[in-house]
Amino acid sequence: MDALIKIDHVTVRYGTLKALDDFQLMIRKGEFLTIIGRSGCGKTTALRLINGLLMPDEGSVYVRGQNVASADLIRLRRSIGYAIQDVGLFPHMTVRDNVAYVPSLSGMWKKTESADRAAALLEMTGLDRSLLSRYPGELSGGQKQRVGIARALAAAPEILLMDEPFGAVDEITRRGLQTALLDLQKKLNITIVFVTHDISEAMLLGDRMLVMDAGKAIQLDEPEQIRKNPASPFVRELLGLKAD
Ligand SMILES: Nc1ncnc2c1ncn2[C@@H]1O[C@H](COP(=O)(O)OP(=O)(O)OP(=O)(O)O)[C@@H](O)[C@H]1O
Ligand SMILES: [Mg+2]
Repeated sequence: MDALIKIDHVTVRYGTLKALDDFQLMIRKGEFLTIIGRSGCGKTTALRLINGLLMPDEGSVYVRGQNVASADLIRLRRSIGYAIQDVGLFPHMTVRDNVAYVPSLSGMWKKTESADRAAALLEMTGLDRSLLSRYPGELSGGQKQRVGIARALAAAPEILLMDEPFGAVDEITRRGLQTALLDLQKKLNITIVFVTHDISEAMLLGDRMLVMDAGKAIQLDEPEQIRKNPASPFVRELLGLKAD
């Protein structure tokens, strides 16, 4: 198996609480992995290990075979896009400057080309280039989330980490965002790790789905396989199936 990301027997502690408890996960290159579980089960913690925002207390994390603990974190993060629920757009910058922020800083985009490249990314997420000169405060929630995706993709990352990125929008907008993201993933062939606590979203988007509970990986498989063979009563309940 082609493991692009490997989380190997990781424990993360906050005082006596184990946010992750001997947690293990291998993620394949090019796959769309969804992570599902209740609030507080450790989803965000798992995600933040991958781009080195958090270091394990025990165990190791490898990205492309390299231990994150000894990696150049700036380089690592440049290859990993990160999109979060409240988007975190810079309010005083236009949409164009938000999207172009990282690639301009790192010299990937020249000043003269940044408008066109930002526009191309916006269009990929289903937004019109006429929004380029707006400020985040002048956008709807769904538009902001699309800009957030465009920004996360701007540095052409090989890996995209998404933490409940579609949480704050209505159902119809959410479906539009899901479709846009699936299209993008096919087009760009990126590896996506997507955290959600919406089971239908996890099943729809994931090539594979990881079910977590209390800091542990409970079941990892294709959504259809998990639906057919839930590993425990907890997984059945999460799927909305009746217990035996
Ligand atoms: N900085 C911190 N200090 C202390 N405890 C923390 C800290 N960050 C997270 N935790 C705890 O670790 C556990 C896992 O947190 P995490 O953010 O990974 O959960 P989550 O699955 O992402 O939840 P949610 O669905 O609500 O976002 C929780 O019990 C949380 O309270
Ligand atoms: Mg979280």
